[in-house]
Amino acid sequence: HQAAADEAPLHEATVSAPVNIAVIKYWGKRDSKLILPTNSSLSVTLSQDHLRTRTTVRAAAEFSSDRLWLNGVEEDVAASARLCNVIATARQLRAAMEQADSTAPRLSTWGLHVCSENNFPTAAGLASSASGYAALVSALGALFELPQSATELSRVARVGSGSACRSMLGGFVAWQAGTMDDGSDSLAEQVAARAHWPQLQALVLVVSDRKKTVSSTAGMQTTVSTSPLFAERVRSVVPHRMAAMRAAIVARDFATFATLAMQDSNQFHAVCQDTFPPIAYMNDTSHAITSLVHAFNAAVGRVAAAYTYDAGPNAVLFVLRDDMRALVQLLTRCFPRPAAMSADAFYADPFAVFASPDLAGRDIDDPAVTALADSVGSFAAGSVRRIIHTEVGDGPRVLPSSESLLNHAGMPK
Ligand code: DP6
Repeated sequence: HQAAADEAPLHEATVSAPVNIAVIKYWGKRDSKLILPTNSSLSVTLSQDHLRTRTTVRAAAEFSSDRLWLNGVEEDVAASARLCNVIATARQLRAAMEQADSTAPRLSTWGLHVCSENNFPTAAGLASSASGYAALVSALGALFELPQSATELSRVARVGSGSACRSMLGGFVAWQAGTMDDGSDSLAEQVAARAHWPQLQALVLVVSDRKKTVSSTAGMQTTVSTSPLFAERVRSVVPHRMAAMRAAIVARDFATFATLAMQDSNQFHAVCQDTFPPIAYMNDTSHAITSLVHAFNAAVGRVAAAYTYDAGPNAVLFVLRDDMRALVQLLTRCFPRPAAMSADAFYADPFAVFASPDLAGRDIDDPAVTALADSVGSFAAGSVRRIIHTEVGDGPRVLPSSESLLNHAGMPK
């Protein structure tokens, strides 16, 4: 009997999914249950080599309820309407398959165990709902052997968290707002694959923050109902910017891409300031980084770097590979690492820009950048807690069963 049980096929899938960073921001819903946005948005998917969520989903007839563990802590699935919606939607797609094929195991009627882990600390304040829901939906898609494409499944990820629909694809991704009430045309589409623009890289500057911020969900709700600037943004700014951003990416026109990304981040935070009561996500260090990026561009005489900020103080900088060395030299000089942190932990240098990461801030090659560093001086050590150097990445990956997060009994390993 034991041997037979061991041989019974395991219905399980393990996937990883990426983080994405919007360069045209999603902010505002026209339907909060289906998560339908007021405007289209566009993002860059970041490499899973540096930032990712890994998720295992198993279905078994003997699982009496759906259970989920997130970074080692069990969550109450029934208490999360979004989680329930995502799981129910995926089950409906599976049930339709089972109806058409009487030999398919009835996975849609079985309980699910889900185990999910981020490879970045939640304390770093990096958004994890996008990679988290994209990983969950991709894992359910693999487990249920759903025939739907990543774009079609992005509708399911969207009901978990709006920005998650964009993490269903790699490269450069547009989330079309759509116009239908049922959300069927509100989905993510790839604008260009990651290989389209291999020179484009990103730095995530993890900024220290002690304040508790307003959640995206609550913040955008207040913005929609109180900000006149927001109405103007949706009506006249975003449609033009979406088209211009798409064209800049297709043409690999960094200066235009960077300028639009900075302007759209600035307008998103202006709209937050125009919300009543106002919402402040950026802090003094964020504003200092903004100024430094503009000063860097002035020093090198062209738009060589761009910043963007989401609903928190962390900066994501975009820069082409050839300009990375000068920018990291400047940043590591002006933002000294926290006391007691190694150079390696602060900036790991995964692309070997320097012979060794502790050389990063020492000698700036470009005299104009040296002059800039000298005039700016340095901020308090640890204002920037960590710099993660990454690049444009691919979409969710199905992983081998050796990567499973669940043990034989279907509990976290
Ligand atoms: C500022 O996707 O987290 O990061 O749909 O309510 O889950 P919900 O919100 P969420 O909002 C992200 C907002 C943003 C901009 C963006 O990613 O486009």
